[in-house]
Amino acid sequence: MNLELEGKVVVITGGASGIGRATALGAAREGAKLALIDQSDAKSVAGEIADLGGEALALGCDIRDAATVEATMARIVERFGGMDVLVNSAGAAGSVRKPVIETSDATWDLTIETNLRGTFNLCRAALPALREREGTIINIASELGLIGTANLVVYGASKAGVINFTRGLAVEEGEYGVRVNCVCPGPVDTPFVHHKPGAPKNAPAAATIMGRMGEPEEIADVILFLASPRASYMTGAIVVADGGATAH
Ligand SMILES: NC(=O)c1ccc[n+]([C@@H]2O[C@H](COP(=O)([O-])OP(=O)(O)OC[C@H]3O[C@@H](n4cnc5c(N)ncnc54)[C@H](O)[C@@H]3O)[C@@H](O)[C@H]2O)c1
Repeated sequence: MNLELEGKVVVITGGASGIGRATALGAAREGAKLALIDQSDAKSVAGEIADLGGEALALGCDIRDAATVEATMARIVERFGGMDVLVNSAGAAGSVRKPVIETSDATWDLTIETNLRGTFNLCRAALPALREREGTIINIASELGLIGTANLVVYGASKAGVINFTRGLAVEEGEYGVRVNCVCPGPVDTPFVHHKPGAPKNAPAAATIMGRMGEPEEIADVILFLASPRASYMTGAIVVADGGATAH
């Protein structure tokens, strides 16, 4: 299937790692131009894209800060002349998993500010440019935004917020031709799920029907389909790609 992303400007938060990186590389292979937004250095991913013969701009930015996000978006529009796709993949869960009764204000603030405010900041800043081209937004939530999970309650609440933020924004932007969809990954083999104190080792894979974690490229393919004009009848959709974890 030709995803018709040739020449499109694709902006990805969390582009330095995991699902964001895999999505960036996949988009570059389809001929898209990339802007990678991350608080970590995304230059090595931009280098990988250059090696593929593609074009990528790596931009350091903390998505929690609205002013920095606005300035970053302005740089992207200046460099590429506009944008077609925004993928909100940057996310945080706090480094220690604990029940609510032991959860710190710092964990609440980090999780909600990154996942919910960050998604809001990016969408708000990108919408003027996206409306100009009838572009599209893909927010990355989580299967944990659909079910309750001990020791990840705040994370689950933030992702449930991202899910309904997606639906509401899709309603608002329909008249401007901007499609807004959401992907809910299950456990995916990225730095995000490893080395978390308190996390049971094999629990993520065991919770799936497939008995394994997903690869970031398996989520990237779903994101790229939603980014493509081939998904032209999809907006406000919550697309679950979790190896069946929420099916039972
Ligand atoms: N890996 C999983 O099992 C899994 C499952 C469900 C949902 N998700 C979601 O998928 C998304 C991507 O996760 P991943 O697995 O690729 O993780 P990852 O850790 O590999 O990548 C996340 C990236 O986000 C960046 N980031 C974090 N906070 C930021 C901030 N404030 N400003 C800018 N950049 C910031 C990090 O630097 C990192 O490069 C996240 O939203 C996560 O919640 C992941």
